[in-house]
Amino acid sequence: MPVWESDNVAGDQAQTGASRALSAQLTDEDLGLDRSLRPQVLDDYLGQSRVKDNLHVLISAARGRGEVLDHVLFSGPPGLGKTTLAGVVANELGVAMKPTSGPAIERTGDLAALLSNLERGDVLFIDEIHRLNRSIEEVLYPAMEDFVLDIVIGKGPAARSLRLDIPPFTLIGATTRTGLLTGPLRDRFGMAFRLDYYTVAELCEIVIRSATILDVEVDLPGAHEIARRSRGTPRLANRLLRRVRDFAEVRAQGVINEDLAAEALSFFEVDSLGLDSMDNKLLGLLTSTFCGRAVGLTTLANALGEDSDTVEDVYEPYLLQQGLLIRTPKGRMATERAFEHCGIPYQPAKE
Ligand SMILES: Nc1ncnc2c1ncn2[C@@H]1O[C@H](COP(=O)(O)OP(=O)(O)O)[C@@H](O)[C@H]1O
Ligand SMILES: [Mg+2]
Repeated sequence: MPVWESDNVAGDQAQTGASRALSAQLTDEDLGLDRSLRPQVLDDYLGQSRVKDNLHVLISAARGRGEVLDHVLFSGPPGLGKTTLAGVVANELGVAMKPTSGPAIERTGDLAALLSNLERGDVLFIDEIHRLNRSIEEVLYPAMEDFVLDIVIGKGPAARSLRLDIPPFTLIGATTRTGLLTGPLRDRFGMAFRLDYYTVAELCEIVIRSATILDVEVDLPGAHEIARRSRGTPRLANRLLRRVRDFAEVRAQGVINEDLAAEALSFFEVDSLGLDSMDNKLLGLLTSTFCGRAVGLTTLANALGEDSDTVEDVYEPYLLQQGLLIRTPKGRMATERAFEHCGIPYQPAKE
């Protein structure tokens, strides 16, 4: 097992609340599943062809010249394959990946220890890099730029600063929020890639690949039905596949076909757009409770019993992408499509 899969330092927060079983956030039950289904090489990493093509060139060039790959930043909503891709890059480079996350690095000493234990060319993976503490970021700058570590020894007038060389390494950062990254940190990445939601066809391939690994029998229309309801997210596609498999087992049915997939997913409250009960609750609040008016993020989050960051990072991106929600200066509003989806007559907001 590669080093980077051996421990759970993924920055994704384990979630609370049973209703969140189908959100794109990482849950405990995913950890094992994520690991077994995680592609190890670029060829098995499906979709994201633009990002993959670029990485392929950069990796080949670095390997060909025997150089260390430039620092890379991956951004995008949870479950789209940022951690996976970091591991793939390390594998393709033939180096070790040392994973950590922004919130896990509490003191500058923690980072110094990580950096000084790297070997030439290793990948240091920092998940949720936007949550790094500022004082730690400052240690990272010279490390990224010049591969040196500035440390202060002693206190008060006797304090002196020491500069240590560290082996050249590649930092791979992952973030769900590029906007929260400080300018100086962002500028120190040689490359930044944004991962997009996957198409249904790509997710269909992912479902089929995962079904083969999990030894689940699914036909093409069945895989398509699961893909269609996975809201563009591989982690969800894998999770839904597993739910449908459980359902099929209980029903003692063999191959997962379209009808069985649709029935199972409705049973688990994943609707035809892939929205789960929480998404529908959010849309219900905007369309029905607030009658189509603009609602501030905090109010919305409170009404849902979630924190604002989760609403913004986890639920909203897909609703925005699907044209169900818009962000206005006054707050969040449901679109006509959202009213339609909720089966409520459209009422344009009145001032
Ligand atoms: N491009 C892909 N091809 C196949 N499976 C993928 C792909 N991207 C992600 N996955 C699957 O989705 C799961 C979640 O991906 P992960 O890298 O943990 O997402 P993120 O770090 O962006 O939250 C992985 O375990 C993997 O099984
Ligand atoms: Mg991750």
